[in-house]
Formats: sequence, structure tokens, C-alpha cells
Amino acid sequence: MKVLIDRETVERRIGELAVEIAADYLEAPLFVGILTGAAQFMMALIDRLPEEMLAKLDYDFVDVSSYQGTENTGQVVLVKDLTIAVEGRDVLVIDGIVDTGRSLDFVLDMICTRRPHSLKTCALLDKSARRALQVPVDYCGFEIEDAFVVGYGMDYDQRYRALHHIAIIE
Ligand code: IMP
Ligand code: MG
Repeated sequence: MKVLIDRETVERRIGELAVEIAADYLEAPLFVGILTGAAQFMMALIDRLPEEMLAKLDYDFVDVSSYQGTENTGQVVLVKDLTIAVEGRDVLVIDGIVDTGRSLDFVLDMICTRRPHSLKTCALLDKSARRALQVPVDYCGFEIEDAFVVGYGMDYDQRYRALHHIAIIE
């Protein structure tokens, strides 16, 4: 394994994203994290938001699946739905990494039919060269090369998620 983005750089960038998001969401946002990859990132992001935003913020998780090991099967299925109603809400969908875009596209479609007031996306990592579906990433932590990465929520067969940095599996 080789370090791609070190801990300090990841944390600094999450701080910058928190400042941007706090400035854009003046009403009560609903953060929707895509399990399991987004959990660590979403909590770190919330941690860096200004105190006055926290009382107005709700968060929830969805879970979708399309991967087996490093193999993307292309078929996205819903594993866990939201608990909170999204109608009329300012929803920010958060993912750890956007690769082909199929997972995010699936979640956006699903939320869209429930008529949120607004719908935007945030991803810690974006492998935009691999995109099969054009999905917008409104807040992007890092554009990365086409390599399989782990850490900060990203896994290889459920391993290495808890790392504080992003590493490349060789
Ligand atoms: P997509 O549907 O192809 O955009 O894939 C998105 C999902 O695939 C992410 O939420 C991750 O769970 C997983 N994924 C894609 N690329 C990587 C990677 O490099 N490392 C770990 N997981 C990945
Ligand atoms: Mg995964």
C-alpha cells in the first residue's frame, strides 16, 4: 500500500469543505450519507461545521451495494432506505468516493422522486475519469487518478476503512 493523500491533507480539505457548505446552507439541511464509505467522512465534516449550524442539521444514511471485492458489478441495489422524509428538505447526499457514478445516480434518482426542496452532492474522492453516468459532484474533496483506494471509509473487501489517510492498493 502506498499513501496517496496523507492525514493532514485530508483533514485540511474537509475543513475547507465544511466552510463552503456552512456558507451555502443557511436553512436546516439534511445530510444523507451513503453507507458504509461515507460514514467517517460525513462525521468528520459535521465535526468541522460551525457550532450554530448543528442544531439545525439532520442526518441519515442510505445503503446501496454494487461491489464485490474490487469488482464493480454495475447493478445497484438498495440495501437500507432513509428513515427521515426528504420532501421539502435541502438535501446534501454525501459519498466517500464517486467512481462510475452509478451508486450516486441511483440515490439521487430515489431522493428526487420524493421531492426535496434542493438536492446537491458531496464526495471526498472523485475518480471522474471512470464516470459512466454523468452525475454532478457539487462539493469535491479530491479528484484522484484511476486507482483502487482505501482508507477514510473506503474499503477493500471491508478492510482498511478506518485509516486516517487515503492509500492505493497495489
Ligand atoms: P460507483 O457506483 O461506481 O460510483 O461506485 C461508488 C462506490 O463504489 C463507492 O461508494 C465505493 O463504495 C465503491 N468504490 C469505488 N471506487 C472505489 C475505490 O477505489 N476504493 C474503494 N471503494 C470504491
Ligand atoms: Mg463499498
